[in-house]
Amino acid sequence: MRTYETIAQLRQALNPARRAGHRIGFVPTMGALHEGHWSLVSQARRSCDEVVVSIFVNPLQFGPGEDMGSYPQTLERDLDGCARHGCDRVFTPSPRQMYPDHTLTRVAVRRLGEPLCGQARKGHFEGVATVVCKLFNVVGPDAAFFGEKDFQQLVIIRRMAHDLNMPVEIVGCPTVREPDGLAVSSRNVHLDADQRSRATSIAAALGEAAEFASHGQREVPQLIAHVRERIAQAGPVQIEYVEVVDPETLEALEVIDQPARMCVAAKYGSVRLIDNMPLDVAGEA
Ligand code: PAF
Repeated sequence: MRTYETIAQLRQALNPARRAGHRIGFVPTMGALHEGHWSLVSQARRSCDEVVVSIFVNPLQFGPGEDMGSYPQTLERDLDGCARHGCDRVFTPSPRQMYPDHTLTRVAVRRLGEPLCGQARKGHFEGVATVVCKLFNVVGPDAAFFGEKDFQQLVIIRRMAHDLNMPVEIVGCPTVREPDGLAVSSRNVHLDADQRSRATSIAAALGEAAEFASHGQREVPQLIAHVRERIAQAGPVQIEYVEVVDPETLEALEVIDQPARMCVAAKYGSVRLIDNMPLDVAGEA
């Protein structure tokens, strides 16, 4: 496995693979790598000839009130994990390498960045789309792998690639969960034991809502009320949103008569967690 700090070095290293017609798979990350990331790497490994991982904590996607400085930095461990999981190349650019001067260009996927997490994190998805677009331009992947846990991010990246005619397949990969259902996230380490135990109610509540929907409950307000109550019953929590949306447009639904996704954001102390699940009404796709 090789690591690269500059755009020029990585481009040069990937040229022979590209010329040979190899399929390049890309997993963009911000480091603090965990089982969720390794599942993306495994998926890339299975379907691509070269696997490239980037590790870059992107300043553009953090708001003024969000502490980018407290984002876990575990580079040595991450690189070790990348080697063990069969990555070929890891790109670890500095902020200066990615944003050498005062860049004026931003990629905004209109409308999709506004609901759900976009309400509390203004500008966040513009920062994500901009850095992912830049990373795609650097790596030139044939396929890029994103977790369904960050569902809104996945929908936005997919739409960006489609709208801007990017020649890359966007592959969504299932959320990896702890044995008790909690979605794996780099933020979980910040939960204390009590918060950690209460947070399992998010996945449990989503699972129950999915079960009710599969048995024919189509009324979204009822499903949302159940999920809110179930999460609140577990103890102190600040629920940011519980919504059921169209999985492509992210528009809120009132009745489930089409494919739907239930999305939740909740805070335990200062730790903000998100999760989501598909809702399929019996007999519907
Ligand atoms: O999901 C993440 O880790 C980040 O948002 C991403 C896609 C690497 C962009 O910085």
